[in-house]
Amino acid sequence: MKKTTTLLAVLAFTLLGSSLAQAEEQTLLEAIFTPFRQKEFVPVTNKTYQDECGSCHFAYPPGLLPSKSWEKLLTAQALPDHFGENAELDADTLKEIREYALANAADKSYHKRSRKIALATENIDAPLRITEVRYIKRKHHEIPEKMIKGNKDVKSLSYCDACHTQAKKGVFDADTVRIPNYPDWDD
Ligand code: HEC
Ligand code: HEC
Repeated sequence: MKKTTTLLAVLAFTLLGSSLAQAEEQTLLEAIFTPFRQKEFVPVTNKTYQDECGSCHFAYPPGLLPSKSWEKLLTAQALPDHFGENAELDADTLKEIREYALANAADKSYHKRSRKIALATENIDAPLRITEVRYIKRKHHEIPEKMIKGNKDVKSLSYCDACHTQAKKGVFDADTVRIPNYPDWDD
């Protein structure tokens, strides 16, 4: 009995400590309950990231990839050749965005979906795409190509917010999905 109580106390403090570390803009109360409550991704809170990384596609919450991926993607060498586009940034902007992404990466988060992404990428080379991550692939493998690539209002799986209506809030629950032009996709 005593052992269990001690264990629980240790666990609670560990979780509290880590959530405080990542809880820049949270109140203490929110920070305390965060690890017990949150399943979805932490939404983007950095305005520079939102503006610079949300102009060509949805600004991906950093909790969608592990830090080793952001380390590769967010460099002065990589960004001018970013998936065939020039996403170059000045040094100060890059520094801010890179630090923000690294601090909020999947392996730094206790939110359930981020933990799954961290786990799925733990022992492999850093993926450059979210859509390459095993966990994300598994969630989408049953969707026919005609509803993704063949769908003029989606184009590719990279445009999360085309189907996930609450993606900007970090919410990806199956209940919030609507595939454009296929209102009855799950019948
Ligand atoms: C000039 C346009 C442009 C800007 C600006 C841009 N991106 Fe991209 N990004 C792209 C394109 C194009 C793709 C590939 C989309 C596809 O395959 O359909 C992409 C893909 C990605 C992917 C992989 C998505 C997947 O398929 O899983 C990530 C991660 C990403 N971008 C992050 C960022 C971040 C972070 C920033 C801000 C530093 C950024 N992007 C800024 C054009 C851009
Ligand atoms: C073509 C539409 C479409 C696009 C684009 C898309 N998804 Fe999904 N996604 C779905 C569907 C449909 C499901 C639900 C599958 C099911 O019923 O379990 C889903 C499920 C998920 C789930 C699991 C939800 C749950 O309740 O377990 C996650 C996480 C997710 N998607 C993340 C993403 C991310 C991240 C992106 C962008 C990189 C993305 N999706 C792009 C259609 C899409």
